[in-house]
Parts: sequence; structure tokens; C-alpha cells
Amino acid sequence: MQPTATTANYESTYKRMHQMLAKLVPDFELREKARLVVEINEWKRERNAIILGHNYMEPALYHTVADFTGDSLELCRKAATTDADVIVFCGVEFMAETAKIINPTRKVLIPSNRAGCSLAQSIKAEDVRRLKARYPGVPVVTYINSYADVKAETDICCTSGNAVKVVESLDTDTVIFIPDEYLAQNVARETGKHVIFPETDPRKMGGGETAIDKVFISWHGKCEVHEKFTVDDISRVRQQFPDVVVLAHPECSPEVTAASDFSGSTSAMIKYVENVKAPRYLLLTECAMGDNIIAAHPDREVLRLCSIRCPHMKQITLEDTLAALKELKYEVDVPEEIRLRAKASIDRMLAIG
Ligand code: 13P
Ligand code: SF4
Repeated sequence: MQPTATTANYESTYKRMHQMLAKLVPDFELREKARLVVEINEWKRERNAIILGHNYMEPALYHTVADFTGDSLELCRKAATTDADVIVFCGVEFMAETAKIINPTRKVLIPSNRAGCSLAQSIKAEDVRRLKARYPGVPVVTYINSYADVKAETDICCTSGNAVKVVESLDTDTVIFIPDEYLAQNVARETGKHVIFPETDPRKMGGGETAIDKVFISWHGKCEVHEKFTVDDISRVRQQFPDVVVLAHPECSPEVTAASDFSGSTSAMIKYVENVKAPRYLLLTECAMGDNIIAAHPDREVLRLCSIRCPHMKQITLEDTLAALKELKYEVDVPEEIRLRAKASIDRMLAIG
């Protein structure tokens, strides 16, 4: 039987949403979204489904239908342990794929088939194989923002939340760290390493194997969102608001993270705003996350630069989430041979704790 939204359900949902989101979402839209939320929650029960929502989801989705919210690492852990029949991943494709890799007996759905990621598409499995052939024996650390075939060529995955810990766990001077060149530079700074690129490796160009030690051999992938934030943006905001505390995601350039007061994963940024009282914060990351913080903590003043948006995350809407549950689309699958090898690289990361 198809679930139907009752009026009582609708009224209480709308009231809750109004309390939290009235300052962020105009009322006529809130009413429409409340209708969608009621239907989604009923279809969730019908399908024995859970919704995992990344911190970048719009507030009317993030604060209503998501059973668990978090950064890539937290959602990966949650996906690994859920016993729901269906996981609807409100995030981008590599995240949904990761959920399928680690929990293959669940049906994993992503509400849009257009939610990619510039980092994930920047590198292919054959690129990693070439790097491994050029640097035999050097461990490969791959950012979780990558596709399954790339993870399958990887020794250990990392996220923005645990990259330093993962690198330190390897106890080696040289690491292939791919595909985000800025994350590589930010983590290299924290772990006392230098970043070089294969095409300009001074050691392979006559500089001698020991000319530079403690290196990350990286790749020219970038997040199309975070690469746009500049030191100039920070200076101009500081000029207007001298007491602002600036938080930058580690996918921002090393110059931007150095000019900021704090850098960490999306959840680390949220925790910082919750725990460290400041007159106002500037978030250098996808702007929806600022809305989510404001909705949960109306006493916090959060500045965000909303002309810079992730075109992939915003594909995920309440409408498409409802359609995903009703029509069981878009199902994510990974060929078993690739899945098993990719899973090993994720399991090694999760074992680090
Ligand atoms: P987090 O793991 O910090 O949530 O980052 C994911 C992401 O895609 C940031 O752009
Ligand atoms: Fe990928 Fe950047 Fe969008 Fe995150 S914000 S999903 S890294 S394109």
C-alpha cells in the first residue's frame, strides 16, 4: 500500500520546520517542503530505509528527513553499520558508492545521477597504476573523494577528517597522496613533508634520490568550489569585521588555510562553531552548511560567501529524494572485483579509528 500524508502529520511537521527554518526559508516554500518531508518520512518507513545527509544538504532536507548527518568519514562509518534495507545517500556519487562498497547487501540509492565531484573525476585507475609503476613500493593514500576503481588501486583511503592520522600511521617518508593537490599541501604542512608532482620530480630529473626527502607525490586535482576562495576574500571580510573567526576546509589552497583561524572537515568546522564562542564566523566552504548551523544555533552569526556553490551537492533535492524512495532510483552498484579491492583501502582507514 502506498503511504499517504495525513493532515495531522503535515501540521506538526510544518510547525517544527517553521520553528527552525522560518528565517531561512520563505513561508510558502516551507509549506511545500513540509508536504514533501511528510511523504519522504512515510516512504522511508515503507521501504525500511535510512537517509544519510552530508553537511552540505539544504537545511529543509538536512534538518528534517536525514536520519544521520555528518562529514564523509562519519557517514561512511554509519553506512558500514546500518541494517536498514535501503540507504538513500543525500550527498554526491562517490559517497553513495563508498556506502555500497562497505555495505554491499543494502540497496544504495542516490537521488540524482548528476551529483559528481571535480576531485573524483580528476583521476582514473590507470593514472594510479602509472604512478605505482613509477614509484614502486610507495604507499598510495587516496582521498575518499574518488571513485571505486581508483580506491581499488589504493593502499589506504583518507578523508579531510583523518588525513593527518592516516599519513602518520604509515611511518614512511614518501607517500603518493592523491588526487587533491591542496589537501596534499595542507596535510604535508602538518606532517612535515613537501609536495612534488610526478612530471616535475627533481629526484627523477637528475636531482638524486635524496635531494628531497619526506615527500608527498601528488596529483593536480582540485575542488572546483574550495579552490575559488582567496586570501583576498579573507582580508576583505576581516577589514569589514575585524573580530571574525575564519574557518576554511582543507580543500582550500594552503595560502587560504594559513590565513584562516581554523581548518578542518565539515563536521570539525561545525563543532568549532558550537564549541568556540566568537562574535561571528566566516565559513569558507559550501554555503548551505552555514545555513544548517544558523538553523541549529540561531545565536551564532555565520558569514558565508554564497556566490561560490557546489553544483553537484545542490542536485540533491527533497523532490528527488522522494522520487528515489518511490521509484527506487538511482541504484548504485560496484563490480564485485573492484568493490573488494576498494573495500580493503576503506577498511584500513576505518581501522585507524
Ligand atoms: P568532508 O568530508 O569534510 O565533509 O568533505 C567532503 C567534501 O566533499 C568537501 O567538499
Ligand atoms: Fe566535490 Fe568540491 Fe563539491 Fe565537495 S564541494 S563534492 S569536493 S566539488
